Order: sequence, then C-alpha cells, then structure tokens
Amino acid sequence: MRITLSVLKADIGSVGGHTLPSAAVLAKVKEVVEEAKGSLLLDAYVFHIGDDIVLLLSHTRGVAHPAIHELAWRAFREGTEVAKREGLYGAGQDLLKDAFTGNLHGLGPQVAEMEVEERPSEPFMVLAADKTEPGAFNLPLYLAFADPMYSSGLLLSPELRPGFRFRIMDLAQTERDSYIELDAPERLYDIAALLRDSHRFAIASIWSRKYGEVAAVVSTTRLRNIAGRYVGKDDPVALVRTQKIFPATEEFGPPFALAPFVAGDTRGSHHLPLMPVKANTPASTFFCVPMVCALGFSLKEGRLTGPVDLFADPVWDAVRAKVVEKAQEMRRQGFYGPAMLPMEELEYTGIAERLKELEQEFS
Ligand code: 13P
Ligand code: MG
Ligand code: MG
Repeated sequence: MRITLSVLKADIGSVGGHTLPSAAVLAKVKEVVEEAKGSLLLDAYVFHIGDDIVLLLSHTRGVAHPAIHELAWRAFREGTEVAKREGLYGAGQDLLKDAFTGNLHGLGPQVAEMEVEERPSEPFMVLAADKTEPGAFNLPLYLAFADPMYSSGLLLSPELRPGFRFRIMDLAQTERDSYIELDAPERLYDIAALLRDSHRFAIASIWSRKYGEVAAVVSTTRLRNIAGRYVGKDDPVALVRTQKIFPATEEFGPPFALAPFVAGDTRGSHHLPLMPVKANTPASTFFCVPMVCALGFSLKEGRLTGPVDLFADPVWDAVRAKVVEKAQEMRRQGFYGPAMLPMEELEYTGIAERLKELEQEFS
C-alpha cells in the first residue's frame, strides 16, 4: 500500500515569550486535524517542540497535495486566531502570507513529506527542532547514514553495504531551489565538505542506493528568504525510516548525543549545542538552547501506533546534563568569537548599523 507521511510545523504563538503554545491553541489545532481523520486522513498525531506545533499526517494523496496542505494551513490559521485572542507572543509568527495558494512551501511553515510503499513493518521517526537552522541535522544524519564508527550496520548488514545517496540543498540560492546528489561512501569527503557548513548547506533527503528507497526527508525552508527579514528560526522537521534496509533506530542515538554546536537560540544569533529533549518540552530560559525531539512510530495501512519518545530513556538525562555544561561554557564568552554568529548570519541588524556609524570615525 502506498502511504504518504506529511510533517508540517509552525510557530503560531507562545506563552510568556518564545516558550510553548497554550493548551487552547494546541486544542484548536488538534480539533481541526481530528475532523479530517477518516476522510482526508488515515491518521494523525499532533505535538509541540518548544513553541512550534508539529502535525504528523498519514494519507494516500501523495506529497505536496493541496488538500493536505490546506488542512494544515487551516489548522495553523485557526490556532493563530486563538493565540491572538489570548495575546500570545508572536501569534501567527510563521504564517508569512495571508492567503493559501495551494502549497505550504513559501508560506512559512516547515514541511517534510515522503510517499512510500509501506513495508510489512514500517518503523519510522519524526525529528522536530526548535530555535535552530535547517542544517542542524547535518552531522547526526551524516554519521548515522555514512559513518561506520557510529552506524555499525554499514559494516554488518549487506542491505546497508552499498551506502546511501545524499541530496543536499544550497540554502544561499534564494531565486530557485538548488541541489546536489552525492553517493556515500565514494563521495564522503565532498559530502563532508558541504555539510560542515550547516548555515549554507542542508541535507534535503537521503536514499538507499541498493533499493532506490527514500530513507529520510528534511525540511529546508529558510523563513528569512521568504520574509526578507528575521521573523523567527528556520528550525527543521524530518522523517526518517529505520530498520532493515535503513540504519536501526538506536543507531541514531549516539550521533544525536554528540549535540553539535548549531546556529540559533536567543534572537537566532548564536551558536549553542543541539540538545536532545522529550517531545512537548518548552523552550529553555537558558538562552533558548536549540532543541530536538524524536518520536518513533509504527505504521500499518496508514494507521499509526505510538509514539515512543526516543529521547526519554535514562541515558538521555545524562546526555542532557553534559549538553547543559557545553552550553554554559559557550555562553560564558557572551558575544565573543564563535559564541555569536558571523555578520552574514546575524538575524538582527543592530551590529551592521553600529559598524556603519563607526566607519565615519576611522581615519
Ligand atoms: P522562535 O523562532 O522559536 O520563535 O524563536 C525566536 C527567538 O528569537 C528566541 O530568542
Ligand atoms: Mg516563537
Ligand atoms: Mg519556534
């Protein structure tokens, strides 16, 4: 059976700052989605990460289907109305256009979708991040799909042995989408050369070379390319299929436990580690440290069983304690050096304006 999984995420307002959506906003979004179950949708699950609301929808309409995108748009719009009534901060923040035009791409929300021929057992996970950038998953996904030091399945399983194809997007191209496809392991160094720059390049999708099957899709929307100015983070969502011809669910754990420094956090203008958290965690008052959650599901004829929260077992408390130390260490140096983003990545204009004024005083 061919099933489409769609993950759509938007920040439509939050309580007391950029923290989490209110119960009433979440309830409204869920209500709109639930109404479509049994007609447009086979199944759905709604959760939040920080102040972003995530919809996981399963259906048979294929990717980028207008009716599916319209449903998500309506859920986010109706949620925004509640957020406005409650005076939530940044109500409707990620809805950058007024009218729906058939597709959510270019309107603000993050979108990751895949159409698959459902396997007899179809385990997959949803990754969702808040307070970070589209390239935030580059290192963990690279390690899980291309590095046998992390993904021993690349050595142990004949299914994984031919490796994976990486489709990488150049985020600096704002006129039109621009991709390159590179095969691991042959092009490993080229892949690494691109992915090391998480501000500029982001994994868009990953494919099994042996079967031509899609393994992972990541959203790559850059909000500021749509709005032309800073309006919030471009924190990504991703769908990742696991087991059998793909890395095992647990092979993604150690790469995420690394918690690499990524762009984001307060005012979208600094580097802090990407902290693995449980789903439905509010954003952190510790400088809005970037966060990622991972929910595991099983799929049968489009029906979801789960989720299991993949960053909830006791190991992750120990990981988080280390990540907090790493974050605190970086924050000690405040605005200095790599703690704050380079000029061209700064989301606010204050420093550029100040430097312009100071130019007059140079001699
Ligand atoms: P969000 O993108 O989650 O709204 O974060 C905005 C921000 O600048 C927090 O400091
Ligand atoms: Mg926000
Ligand atoms: Mg947010």
